[in-house]
Amino acid sequence: MHSPDLTDPDTYSAGVPHDVFRWLRENDPVSHRGAGHWAVTRYDHVSTVLREPAIFSSWLGGVLPDDLPVEFLAKLRENMLNRDPPEHTAMRRLVTHAFSPQRLARLDSKMAVHARILVERVRDRGHCDFATEIAGQMPLFVICEILGVPLSDREMLYSRTARMFGSEFSDRADAQRDAIAAAEELRDYATELRQAKRARPADDLVSDLLHADLDGRRLEHSEFQAFFMLLFNAGADTTRSLLCFGLDLLLDRPDVLDRARSKPCMLPRVIEEILRFEPPVIQFRRTVARDTTLGGRKLAAGDKVLVYFPSANRDASVFANPDQFDVDRAPNRHLAFGHGVHFCLGARLARLECEHVLRQLIARLGSIERDRPMVTARTAFIRSVQNQEIRFSDRP
Ligand code: HEM
Repeated sequence: MHSPDLTDPDTYSAGVPHDVFRWLRENDPVSHRGAGHWAVTRYDHVSTVLREPAIFSSWLGGVLPDDLPVEFLAKLRENMLNRDPPEHTAMRRLVTHAFSPQRLARLDSKMAVHARILVERVRDRGHCDFATEIAGQMPLFVICEILGVPLSDREMLYSRTARMFGSEFSDRADAQRDAIAAAEELRDYATELRQAKRARPADDLVSDLLHADLDGRRLEHSEFQAFFMLLFNAGADTTRSLLCFGLDLLLDRPDVLDRARSKPCMLPRVIEEILRFEPPVIQFRRTVARDTTLGGRKLAAGDKVLVYFPSANRDASVFANPDQFDVDRAPNRHLAFGHGVHFCLGARLARLECEHVLRQLIARLGSIERDRPMVTARTAFIRSVQNQEIRFSDRP
């Protein structure tokens, strides 16, 4: 079978090419893609790579696509996503408490209120762009609450994030220039916010990080910026995409929507199946730290290994009828949030955000339909939805 370039955004323009991934899983699961790049598509191999940071390193060459400009990557490298243990362990410890079940329980009622406000705001109108008016707003609100970003700055920050990842430029060079400019602006904002919190500390994560102890020392300014950038970016597009793909799936399955409407307690299971079926992240990568073998293939130190989440989540050796959307699937051990030491710090938060929004949507709106097909951004990395026009009645 002809296997397209899996790192080319155009390969995903009509959705994830599941037939290609199925063929790779069955015939070439650790596939050499040239120039020391490997595509890993089976569930067990993907989990092995993510479980062994000493062999498959995040530090030695990037989790993010390596065709981004060097200066851009160098700055991103300072955050925990791009570190290996033991540095990673110490950094992650600094922010873990902000995402603990106790902290999230305190945020829960605010999330519920905000989800209701977002849905109420569009209810009488009978139509909205779900991506920009609801799905994109919820994660932005929540991470700003956690970090302590003032309300007045939030829209501006979100547009910078969108430019960093879901670029609207078709030309790669233009897209990269704009992404770098947006990243610089976001970093400058982090500096301003840090100064403001130093003058007026509050009960938020940015204030906590000012006094954080990283193995006997304070965080350097650039490390603080890297934290801010990571936390701000990691949950925005991913959660928006989870919500949009989730709604899109449900619009084709009115029976599931009806079941969830009469039994909202099944929403967590629906969300897990959305995560398995349409995971927001296409691939993350690692660099081989020392010669090793994977799936019988010899990998050399320095090789790049790209793990494909949409493929692992449809591996028939783990999931029965993997191409079927089945909200009764149990267990559902998908890899949408990764695995091992870098397992998504915001997983619980993303699930809660999604649950609140879907709960309000089905409680307050009825006969929800597509107005236009969903518009997705050109990407081979984090799937991002630009617009999702829907119409509805103001009663369920
Ligand atoms: C890490 C996916 C939402 C913060 C990860 C990883 C994945 C992932 C796959 C693993 C990266 C790796 O192995 O290299 C997702 C998805 C989300 C989501 C699909 C939404 C549906 C969030 C949210 C936040 C967040 C809401 C926080 C606000 C992070 C952080 C890391 C991470 C900080 C790095 C953890 C580490 O390096 O130890 N995420 N994420 N994510 N995620 Fe998420």
